[in-house]
Amino acid sequence: MPDLVLTNATYQYKTATAPSVSNVNCVFTTGKMYAIVGPSGSGKSTLLSLLAGLDLPTGGEVSFGGVSLASMNLDKYRQTDISMIFQSFHLFPLMTVLENVCYPLELIGVKTVDAIPRAQKLLESVGIKPAQMKRFPSQLSGGEQQRVAIARSLAAGAKTLLADEPTGNLDEANTQNIMSILQKLAHEDDYCVIVVTHDLEAAAIADVVCRMRDGVLVS
Ligand SMILES: Nc1ncnc2c1ncn2[C@@H]1O[C@H](COP(=O)(O)OP(=O)(O)OP(=O)(O)O)[C@@H](O)[C@H]1O
Ligand SMILES: [Mg+2]
Repeated sequence: MPDLVLTNATYQYKTATAPSVSNVNCVFTTGKMYAIVGPSGSGKSTLLSLLAGLDLPTGGEVSFGGVSLASMNLDKYRQTDISMIFQSFHLFPLMTVLENVCYPLELIGVKTVDAIPRAQKLLESVGIKPAQMKRFPSQLSGGEQQRVAIARSLAAGAKTLLADEPTGNLDEANTQNIMSILQKLAHEDDYCVIVVTHDLEAAAIADVVCRMRDGVLVS
């Protein structure tokens, strides 16, 4: 089980006078869903960027499967071990829904003929219908676009999903739907799911709620 572990993790932006993440200790394991909550500016996105290997901590350590990210090939880590989901979906606008999900499969060398049925299965698993797969992202609702983004993030096979405000642009019904898809991935398919959210009601569905305040993990 490759745990994602923060050990006294600290991060201070070059231009900042105080750390945005300060001495955080936390273990994220597979099979569980985590919510990171806290006021604006409390360091949630910074923490997520440390977990994603987008930034290395300026103090302490982030490790995955017992190996420090500092000694890893971070491009490979980001390509194969973790996957990110964003508030604004980040789908490719000029590709169809199906092509969006095939893309990461083709990046890892899967031939188009094999990528298509795999992508269709992933899209079906998040409730996207065959007719919707032929459309462009702009021709879907926000909730549908986020489900496509989840399917795409699953395509490359990473078992750790990091999501920054994935339901920030969605209404309550779609928020519940996305959160329950993420919960199912953790509980039934053994993903490690880490979700940053402002929405305390959405956070309540998580197995563990991590509260940030002023860069510190308070509970
Ligand atoms: N590139 C940067 N350079 C300097 N300071 C930054 C930078 N990015 C973020 N910060 C600061 O770090 C702190 C934490 O920011 P972060 O984006 O992690 O907060 P957040 O909890 O995600 O907030 P929000 O809920 O508004 O998204 C804030 O004080 C912010 O101003
Ligand atoms: Mg943020």
